[in-house]
Amino acid sequence: MPRAIISPSVLASDFGHLNAECKRMIKNGAEWLHMDVMDGHFVPNITMGAPILSCVSKGVPGIFMDCHMMVAHPERVCWVNDIADAGGSLYCFHLEATSEPLLLIDAIHERNMKAGVAISPDTPSTAITDEVADAADMLLVMTVYPGRGGQRFLDRCVPKVSELRARFPHKDIEVDGGVGPKTIGPCADAGSNVIVAGTAIFGAEKPEEVIALLKSTVET
Ligand code: DX5
Ligand code: ZN
Repeated sequence: MPRAIISPSVLASDFGHLNAECKRMIKNGAEWLHMDVMDGHFVPNITMGAPILSCVSKGVPGIFMDCHMMVAHPERVCWVNDIADAGGSLYCFHLEATSEPLLLIDAIHERNMKAGVAISPDTPSTAITDEVADAADMLLVMTVYPGRGGQRFLDRCVPKVSELRARFPHKDIEVDGGVGPKTIGPCADAGSNVIVAGTAIFGAEKPEEVIALLKSTVET
């Protein structure tokens, strides 16, 4: 299995001090930062877009921005180019939001970003074809409905992680939504290696302990 990576979701951070919050998490052991981009169409909420990401990449040199694109038409050139120009490291789009995943993965790679493919709770793992998974760098299994932080972890999504791990032993598989010390066990057992956690990390008194615990659970 690929190595364990912890990606705190900044959705649970203090947006008024976003750069400082990202630096704090890196200091506490986070390798990636998970940036939830919501457009008010694919999901009802609006969070942040390229202008904010650009400030973060300039203010936090070397940051790996794991951009979770909860947007309609993620294949639009403006989305891909804007996120690339803003310093996005990984562009993860929802399979439900586009009819041309392979072309989109190519466009993401052309802009030197890693490509991720996300599935919402009601989308089966089989919707990710071998061709799409082979082209992508990461698969994201949502363990809540996309749209907001702080929701309850949906156990019924975990079997999809096992199914994808069985099909793709070497692929990065991310879980996102309601993940924390109480729910990491089944995620790790099922084979996810990239762990997103918002509330559980930012809400903790000692985030470094939560990050270390999540990482060690995946590694053992
Ligand atoms: C939900 C987002 C998640 C969320 C995770 O739409 O994609 O990244 O912020 O936050 P927690 O860990 O609080 O569920
Ligand atoms: Zn997310």
